[in-house]
Amino acid sequence: MSLSKPHGGKLINRWNPSYQINGFTPTVELDEIAISDLDLIGTGAYSPLDGFLTEADYNAVVHNMRLATGEPWTIPITLPTTESNAAQINIGSIVKLVKDGVIYGVLEVLDKFMPNKKKEAELVYKTTDRQHPGVKKLFERPNVYLGGPITLVKRRPLDEFSGYHFDPAETRKQFQALGWNTVVGFQTRNPVHRAHEYIQKSALEIVDGLFLNPLVGETKSDDIPADVRMKSYEVLLENYYAKNHVFLGVFTAAMRYAGPREAVFHAIVRKNFGCTHFIVGRDHAGVGNYYGTYDAQKIFSNFTKEELDLTLLFFEHSFYCTQCDSMATAKTCPHDVSQHVILSGTRVREMLRNGEKPPATFSRSEVIDVLIDGLQSESVLL
Ligand code: ADX
Repeated sequence: MSLSKPHGGKLINRWNPSYQINGFTPTVELDEIAISDLDLIGTGAYSPLDGFLTEADYNAVVHNMRLATGEPWTIPITLPTTESNAAQINIGSIVKLVKDGVIYGVLEVLDKFMPNKKKEAELVYKTTDRQHPGVKKLFERPNVYLGGPITLVKRRPLDEFSGYHFDPAETRKQFQALGWNTVVGFQTRNPVHRAHEYIQKSALEIVDGLFLNPLVGETKSDDIPADVRMKSYEVLLENYYAKNHVFLGVFTAAMRYAGPREAVFHAIVRKNFGCTHFIVGRDHAGVGNYYGTYDAQKIFSNFTKEELDLTLLFFEHSFYCTQCDSMATAKTCPHDVSQHVILSGTRVREMLRNGEKPPATFSRSEVIDVLIDGLQSESVLL
């Protein structure tokens, strides 16, 4: 075996730091989501996308979970701008993509269109409830979408993750240098607790390496901040993982909380980074009670094996069982649920905020120490 081919066959590269911007061009202000998407499109993480979705692609993605060409793609990658700004922009023109006065890229405008956001919410997020953080964001963003190919002109400084920020071309080289033919990707927006460690290591038993790829882009305010999480991953890897079989690198995208649709997106992107396998556990990328526990696994049946060209590893809800004296799932443990150590994310955050340690059967004590420390020193209000 060898590393996965990128989605669509080749790794997109739209990064050109010497690109010259000539003459007067209108400007589009990037928000946090758009600036991270621009960087990820430019460096091939979103292959085969070479820009923000045009109307035909957008409609195909929203309605059919595919690009207009038919390739699977489940999350609309869009560039919203205000109606007044859109009025200044002509189809066929080049616009500057700017954040805080700095130009990060340009877009060749092939399309500008008014999306039906209610439909987008219903079909992508399965709800129009504004309490849903992804839906809230969708409606907060401006109302006109611009589509077309981009050129990434400047990389965003991400100093806090230096040493852990790799583009797909680089992760592919690193995996090869490590001698890995098979690599399992793991998405997370949380600290790695015992359940996460259990499914990662179960997967590792059948592949060469684990790509621990925490999402560090925009998350909702009560998620644990990425810089604190990074320290917790370092201490965990240092103490409990075999060095030649794990590679830590950040995923700079924003979290959408779109559950099943986002699980497919996460899988495709990790394939672009070189992964041959991808883990989908319980309520992947979910929030609250919007999605069924295993909806993010079931959605993959909409695509053929050839289309995705990636091995999905589905895991059941995992927990520590005091009677088994080990990690387990309903598939491997016959005991009553009262024997299972299960804590909700909200409860764990509450404990950490109070400086209280969840049991070692839930999370490694080294990890908990780092989290309590980090949260208290950042005085983050969870
Ligand atoms: S996510 O939003 O990034 O998916 P999280 O970091 O909690 O959230 O999950 C990372 C991965 O681990 C996902 O694939 C998720 O389904 C899986 N997962 C999280 N907790 C469990 C658990 N207790 N049992 C099985 N899988 C889990």
